[in-house]
Amino acid sequence: MIHRLQMGEVPAKPHTVFEHSGKMAYEHCLTRRGFDGMYTIFYHRVPPHWVETDEDLGVHPGWAEPTAKGALRRRHYETPKLAEGGQPFMDRKLLLANPDVGVWMVKATEDDATLVANGDSDELVFVQEGSGWVDTPQGLVRFQRQDYVFIPRSLPHRFRLHEPATMMIMEGKTYIDVPTQFRVPGGQLDMGAPYSHRDFRAPEWPDGGAASLDAPRRMLVKRNDSVTAYEMADDPFDVIGWDGQVWSFAFPIRAYQPKTGQVHLPPTVHLTFAGGGFIVCSFVPRMLDYHERAIPCPYAHSSVDCDEIILYVEGDFTSRKGVEIGSISLHPAGIAHGPHPGRYEASVGVRETKELAVMCDTFKPLLPTKHAASIEDEGYNRSWVEAGSGGGKGRSA
Ligand SMILES: [Fe+2]
Repeated sequence: MIHRLQMGEVPAKPHTVFEHSGKMAYEHCLTRRGFDGMYTIFYHRVPPHWVETDEDLGVHPGWAEPTAKGALRRRHYETPKLAEGGQPFMDRKLLLANPDVGVWMVKATEDDATLVANGDSDELVFVQEGSGWVDTPQGLVRFQRQDYVFIPRSLPHRFRLHEPATMMIMEGKTYIDVPTQFRVPGGQLDMGAPYSHRDFRAPEWPDGGAASLDAPRRMLVKRNDSVTAYEMADDPFDVIGWDGQVWSFAFPIRAYQPKTGQVHLPPTVHLTFAGGGFIVCSFVPRMLDYHERAIPCPYAHSSVDCDEIILYVEGDFTSRKGVEIGSISLHPAGIAHGPHPGRYEASVGVRETKELAVMCDTFKPLLPTKHAASIEDEGYNRSWVEAGSGGGKGRSA
């Protein structure tokens, strides 16, 4: 997604005979936007589409219907209350969704037991806690806490864990990419972009290639939020080489280069990734506004176009009533939101913040599922009143 890579062996020209170890290799093109977008070409020893069996497993067990029940209000979901355990793919729970994006959460303690492929969406995974790596036919992608991990749509993979991993998964139903404005004509990242090519952790091609990752033959494919289990006839990772611009990567949120100004800049200056109908922003530790009378705390605002969620990752949020590490706030369009009482005034003269948070702004309403409802802090919408004057100090984007 960032730039072209090549690993292993590929022929001099695409779509030409490529013999390896005395046998002709099978080309496999992973294309986007039909055949008009970025693509990657794999060369397999055995065809990637030969399937022994298929089995309909029904709707993904973590999916639940997003509903618009209840009053329009600011909401707070306490994800530390989610049950821990299980695998990254099959045990994730859908919390919030609209036709453009689904927000899932998992507190996984086990590796994915099978290969998985998300035929619905690109996945942008934020690793709140934990570490491990992702096996892919392009090699393995290492990740640690506070990394984003990008998984292209339909790429077979599986998460492997060094330690339990709490992860928020944003599914981009169209695509997720680097925002167009961060690239110069020709595609290189602009020197004013908030990251450089060097910040993206590419797959590592192991000795022996991806085949040495010993991938399971069983692959779960999600499409239309239902899961089909395939028993593959051969190793889907039996790849001689690949090249292209569609690949899985990790990006450490702390590599994000924030912009600050003389006075408060709008939250969209923290833009990190863009999907169809939504954006993802990273709030990272930074110097704050330097006008002598600047108010660094965000002003109250009515996001007339967007619903907004924030995952609180690290920093001083504890004085915002009820908000803690792992909280997700949902501030919907239609009503104003802003700082808790006292926070606005107290921010004058503050020159630095240690906060770390991930924000997702969506243009279509983001509706909660029963999984979100089960961890909702019912008193959140009134917390501004109950915090009283001079009490709370929480952030607000
Ligand atoms: Fe906001």
